[in-house]
Amino acid sequence: MQLIRTRLSPKLSVLSRYHTKTLPTRHRAMSTLYLNKAVPGIDQYIPLNEPPIGTAYPESVYPQNANLPVLFKPITIRGLTFKNRIFVSPMCQYSSDNGHATDWHFVHIGGYATRGVGAICMEATAVVPEGRISPQDAGLWTDSQIEPLKRIVNFAHSQGTLIGVQLAHAGRKASTYAPWVHADMARTFRAPTYVANEEEGGWPDKVAAPSDIPFSDQYPKPQAMSEEEILRVEDAFVQAVERCKQIGYDFIEVHGAHGYLQHEFMSPLSNVRTDQYGGSLENRMRWPLCVAQKLRAAWDKPLFYRISATDWAEGPEKDANGEWKQWGIEQSKIFVGELKKIGIDLIDCSTGGNWVKQKITVGPGYQLPYAEALKKVYPDLPVGTVGMVTDPEQAESYLSAGKADVVFLARELIRTPHWAILAAQKLGVAVKPANQYERGWAEMLTPAHPGAKTEHGGEQGTGKNDLDQNLPKH
Ligand SMILES: Cc1cc2nc3c(=O)[nH]c(=O)nc-3n(C[C@H](O)[C@H](O)[C@H](O)COP(=O)(O)O)c2cc1C
Repeated sequence: MQLIRTRLSPKLSVLSRYHTKTLPTRHRAMSTLYLNKAVPGIDQYIPLNEPPIGTAYPESVYPQNANLPVLFKPITIRGLTFKNRIFVSPMCQYSSDNGHATDWHFVHIGGYATRGVGAICMEATAVVPEGRISPQDAGLWTDSQIEPLKRIVNFAHSQGTLIGVQLAHAGRKASTYAPWVHADMARTFRAPTYVANEEEGGWPDKVAAPSDIPFSDQYPKPQAMSEEEILRVEDAFVQAVERCKQIGYDFIEVHGAHGYLQHEFMSPLSNVRTDQYGGSLENRMRWPLCVAQKLRAAWDKPLFYRISATDWAEGPEKDANGEWKQWGIEQSKIFVGELKKIGIDLIDCSTGGNWVKQKITVGPGYQLPYAEALKKVYPDLPVGTVGMVTDPEQAESYLSAGKADVVFLARELIRTPHWAILAAQKLGVAVKPANQYERGWAEMLTPAHPGAKTEHGGEQGTGKNDLDQNLPKH
């Protein structure tokens, strides 16, 4: 009975309970039922993927999986196993309705959930309204924001995909325009400022930062936070964690990078406070570490931390007098050591965003040296690398050399949402695609000996050509 129910829509399955006896004999007499199994325990019929999408198949079925690339080896972090090491990097969508996720997010994130990535980190999500970058940024400062996110998380889980969120406060870069509102890519228009004012949904008079130094003269002039304000934001981070529990997220990432509030406290370029939160490295790290500690105490699942490992400003990190002049890799190493003591589970290593005149040498894997430097100091701490990782062999070379443990991809996943499965195909691995998309991956799903070319893999097993010819004609 249970088996029959799984292949019918919920409505029909209820009916089937009463109609079993009238089922044609040929149905009842079948010894094996071939069923389109359902994801158990959810409120609608969705086909179950076994194993979860993006999981490497066993070598017994696919001999080519004998020596799996590291990219497709699972990684376990705080007891949670990620099926592969391709993570969706957080990407602001500037598409929220007063901080609430919409159907855009459902489709955008849902698309990744069905395409085999190891994890999705949802975009920078503000813990207080004035901590949003743009008026349309995501938020988690009130309970009504839980439900639409829960819907997305439930769907990701129905696809066997782990999902987390990046908790954030934009600091002095808050109340600014969405990128396409500021200028279009062709530069047919460009606003004279980045500041979103009140009529545009902004809050330029309520922008908060460690010190009253604007990011640039086109950005809001922030107010230096009082100790009371610092405590209020700290508390908001903890309350957001409580909401994350209700949503069912698998992990949380703290946004400590890109010139937003945590990073602003750490860098001497943006923090010139003279109280316990400014001046010495110890003081500048105090508040970010305090938040990390509180989040660790409140959240027992994996907790990631994104840092900017350098400000990319002119001159050395430390001057001849031993004074720290900008944030850089040496302070990052010390900071990450403290995060490790607190129990942070993974460092997502990015760079930049806090110095308007930053000069970044951009190219494939341009931020990898920073991840690698951290990995060298803390070999047992998982580290992610991000930034122009576009090619599967490139990604694999980083992981197999032990320079990082996972890769975060942003723009390449915008261009190629199916990147994870394409990467498997390119590296000669067979992974599970979504049931519904299997027919697009016949070439990858041809069993082959390790190293064999699968393009015309007929002689190795069920070849692409055989599959093509046997396809149902609909
Ligand atoms: C549309 C878009 C939105 C982004 N939003 C965020 C964000 O919310 N949080 C964050 O830490 N980084 C954000 N980033 C940066 C990416 O996560 C990533 O670090 C950066 O794009 C470099 O990786 P890539 O070369 O793979 O794109 C964003 C990038 C893009 C393209």
